Formats: sequence, structure tokens, C-alpha cells
Amino acid sequence: MDTLRVQVRRLRVHYPLPAALPWQSGGVVRAVEDVNFDLTAGETLGVVGESGCGKSTLARALVGLQPASGGSIRVLGQEMVGASAARWREQRRHVQFIFQDPLASLDPRMTIGEIVEEPLQALCPELGAGERQSRVLAMLERVGLSAALRNRYPHEFSGGQCQRVGIARALVVSPKVLICDEPVSALDVSVQAQIINLLAALQRETGLAMLFIAHDLAVVRHLAQRVMVMYLGRVMEQAPSEILFAQPRHPYTRALMASVPGAGLVAEPLSGELPSAGSPPPGCVFASRCPLAEDDCLRRVPGLNRTGAGAAVACHFVAGAGIAVPA
Ligand SMILES: Nc1ncnc2c1ncn2[C@@H]1O[C@H](COP(=O)(O)OP(=O)(O)OP(=O)(O)O)[C@@H](O)[C@H]1O
Ligand SMILES: [Mg+2]
Repeated sequence: MDTLRVQVRRLRVHYPLPAALPWQSGGVVRAVEDVNFDLTAGETLGVVGESGCGKSTLARALVGLQPASGGSIRVLGQEMVGASAARWREQRRHVQFIFQDPLASLDPRMTIGEIVEEPLQALCPELGAGERQSRVLAMLERVGLSAALRNRYPHEFSGGQCQRVGIARALVVSPKVLICDEPVSALDVSVQAQIINLLAALQRETGLAMLFIAHDLAVVRHLAQRVMVMYLGRVMEQAPSEILFAQPRHPYTRALMASVPGAGLVAEPLSGELPSAGSPPPGCVFASRCPLAEDDCLRRVPGLNRTGAGAAVACHFVAGAGIAVPA
């Protein structure tokens, strides 16, 4: 399939934990465990879940900033797990990212023109200075910043404008994949909408494949065609957006949605504590907070099983969850 941009299979990302005492061995934080998805051209996959569920770790692994502990990440057909820094660098032209804190992600000593030009210099050495300049100016205009502002410094801009600079810097090299880690979480609501609309328009124009992380379900609903719900490093539910929001199946998804005011969903609120990621329970990771949990859930990890129409749920109690994913 030539529109397939990213294919992730059984991805694991673990962080070593230091031992409490010198003669003990340390454990691991299973930040991402057994994650599978495909991302195609022009598509947005939303990723949601509570703080600490592994969203940023997943994003960092996809751009090579955090090594995977196992599994496969194929980007434009190339296997990247275990790839050298040089191979990741080659891919950077095709896979770009934007992060949560717009101002902190911009070098305060560089003008915004220099910031947007930098990836062109580093990743597109075939371009001359004149061509680089014209691309920078066109890109600044495209993200809604006048080219006349190119000699200003990041601290002279608002959060929303800084995020526009971040988007310009990411897209100036015409990447095929954009990884967005909470790019609007630090912005106020009206600015959030502007940035989301800008990303959606740029995606329509360029056919970008986007992975879009947010803790705000409304944002994801607006932008993503498919959504992946994560809890303690694992995928609890994965479904086309309209199916997930119309009929959330996993008790965790239901609880997340019930916590959104005005969502109109009556479900058990989340109870209990989020277990430590360093010592996951032996069965279903959600069992300690799940209103449906029975003894079996504490022993057996539920597989992510198809429920039909492209949806899949990891719960022993969801009817129709019969066929393992991926096929
Ligand atoms: N560098 C690190 N070393 C050790 N553990 C880490 C490291 N980075 C993250 N973790 C742990 O991995 C788990 C996942 O963290 P991650 O930052 O990916 O979550 P997140 O879903 O992005 O959270 P948030 O919504 O707060 O941004 C957490 O338990 C976190 O404490
Ligand atoms: Mg994060």
C-alpha cells in the first residue's frame, strides 16, 4: 500500500528504574507496551489518555528521540527500530514533530526567520540561499505570520504565534509525517481552534500523515479520523473517531468521556489510584480502577480484539471482541 507512511507493531519502550538499594537490581517502567497501528497519507490518528500513560514516550520513539525496547517502527517502508542516528537523521526530512511548549521549543537567540530556515540548511543541502529564503518567507505567510516579522525573536510573540513558528519549522522541509505532542495544550481555547484549523488545512493541502496527541478529547474528536486510547502504556481501545465517540466500549474510554462536562455520557467515574507504571499489575492494567473487574481480570491480560468496523477493544467483558489485532 503506497499510502502507508508509518506502521508500528508490538512496540515497547521501557525506561530502566534505578535500584532502591545498591545490591538490588532496578526494575523498568513499561511506558509503552505492545502498541500497534498504521498511519496513512492524509490521515490523523489521535492519541488520548491520562497523564503518564505513555503518549510522549510513543511520540519520542516515533521520531528517534527515545530508543524502542522492542517491536517494529516502519517509516516509509524502512525499519527504524535499532536504526543508527544517521538513519534517523535521514528520516527527519520526512518525519517532523511539534511539541507542547511553543516558546521553550524555540531557540531564544535566533530570529524566527533563522529558526524556520535551520531545518532547510540541515536537511536540504541541495537548496541554495535564495531558494531557502523564499521557502521560509512563503512558509511564514502560510502559517499566518507576516514575512515582515522574520527578524523578530521568539519572546516578541504570543504562545499561539510561537506555535505557528513551530509548525512552520516542522513543515518547511515538506515532511510526509508530522508527530504532534499536545501542540495546543498550552494555548487558550480560541487560539487552540486557530492552530487546529491551520493544521487541518495544511494536512488537506499536503497529504501529511499526522499523529496527534492530546489529553482533551474534544480536540482529538475535531481533528482525528481514528483514535487510540492509552492507559499505563497499553492501548485500551482503538476505533474510527465517529464510532469511538458515539459508542465508547472500553470502561476506561467511557470513564474518560464521562469526565468531560456536557459529553452526555453516563458512566462510572474513575475510582482508585493510577497504579505505578514501574510495577504494573499482572492482569489487565486497568483492573484496579475498573467498575467491571472480576478475579480473571487480575490474572489475564486482555488482548486488543476487533469488535467490527475497524474498532478494537482490550477488555474481557466487551462482546464481539473475538479476533486479535493486528490480523
Ligand atoms: N526519561 C524517563 N525516565 C524514566 N521514566 C520516564 C521517563 N520519561 C517518562 N517516564 C515515565 O514513563 C511513563 C510515561 O510517561 P510519558 O511522559 O510518556 O507520559 P504522557 O502520557 O506523555 O504524560 P503527560 O500527559 O503528563 O505528558 C510515566 O510513568 C513516566 O513517569
Ligand atoms: Mg506527554
